[in-house]
Amino acid sequence: MRTYVITGGTDGLGKGLGLHFLRRGDRVIAVASGAAKGQAFLAEARRAGAADRAVFLQADLSTVAGMRQVVERVSAATEAVDGLVFGAQRFRTAREETADGLEFTFALAYLSRFVLGHGLLGHLERAEAPVVLNLAGPGGLPGRINWDDLQWRDGYSGMRASMQASRCNDLLGVAFPARHPDARTRYVLYNPGFVDTGLTDPLPQPKRAALKVLARLFAKPVGKAIGPMLALMDAPPRPALTAYLRGKPLEPAGEDFDPAAAARLDHLTTGLLDRIPAPR
Ligand SMILES: NC(=O)c1ccc[n+]([C@@H]2O[C@H](COP(=O)([O-])OP(=O)(O)OC[C@H]3O[C@@H](n4cnc5c(N)ncnc54)[C@H](OP(=O)(O)O)[C@@H]3O)[C@@H](O)[C@H]2O)c1
Repeated sequence: MRTYVITGGTDGLGKGLGLHFLRRGDRVIAVASGAAKGQAFLAEARRAGAADRAVFLQADLSTVAGMRQVVERVSAATEAVDGLVFGAQRFRTAREETADGLEFTFALAYLSRFVLGHGLLGHLERAEAPVVLNLAGPGGLPGRINWDDLQWRDGYSGMRASMQASRCNDLLGVAFPARHPDARTRYVLYNPGFVDTGLTDPLPQPKRAALKVLARLFAKPVGKAIGPMLALMDAPPRPALTAYLRGKPLEPAGEDFDPAAAARLDHLTTGLLDRIPAPR
């Protein structure tokens, strides 16, 4: 029986992956912030006859305390992690600051993946064929890293912050094996394209209704979108880092995957976390 940890495991792609793993007999720890979706996930697990293999871990992954708590609680709950999936996200139309004084999207969509990935590496390394699946936007919509103002104190837009998080995740994928050159854990960056999920829920009306219609018409259903992800998780690629756009391999090269930029972001992120002490 394999163990999967899935952030954003109570909705959309994360939930689709989690329920698939549960139905085939594996164990799933789904991490998300809302109790209602967590209970709904557990109810579906019960209906699938997997109540004893499903765990809902409620945590706010936009806070550093929440991220560290998840590392601690997962470490205590399991010896090994076979697969770690990053799918927690929430679009914010207006800039929001977390309790740590960080911009929300930077914290949730990038920093939580940094903290959990590095923090759970020891548990991943105990598995037979460990893999991190970072669901982000490699090779997709363009965006840039606002190096002088990573927290978007000026010029925030929801799209800019989201696209920056995607670029940060591209660089996290480069930095991860650079930091852990001897690790067996494979790092997979995956852009699923447009998928019909809870993605549109935080948008104000009438944008939400319009995007929901577009999603119904043009987006892939979750069940279909997760197929190539499952294949990658079951047989992780040989290279330490790989990237995919809708199941097709992308060369992790060029500006988005620049090793110097990856080292720079890694250094900045480590410094930023060092300034947020763990509570005594
Ligand atoms: N759907 C697409 O078209 C698309 C396209 C490209 C990339 N992706 C990527 O694929 C991944 C999954 O996307 P999705 O569309 O499946 O997402 P989704 O349906 O919107 O689900 C998001 C999940 O994140 C959780 N979450 C939100 N805020 C959180 C917080 N503060 N702490 C912990 N968990 C939190 C949500 O639960 P709670 O709200 O209860 O916390 C939910 O389980 C994301 O990384 C996204 O960037 C998606």
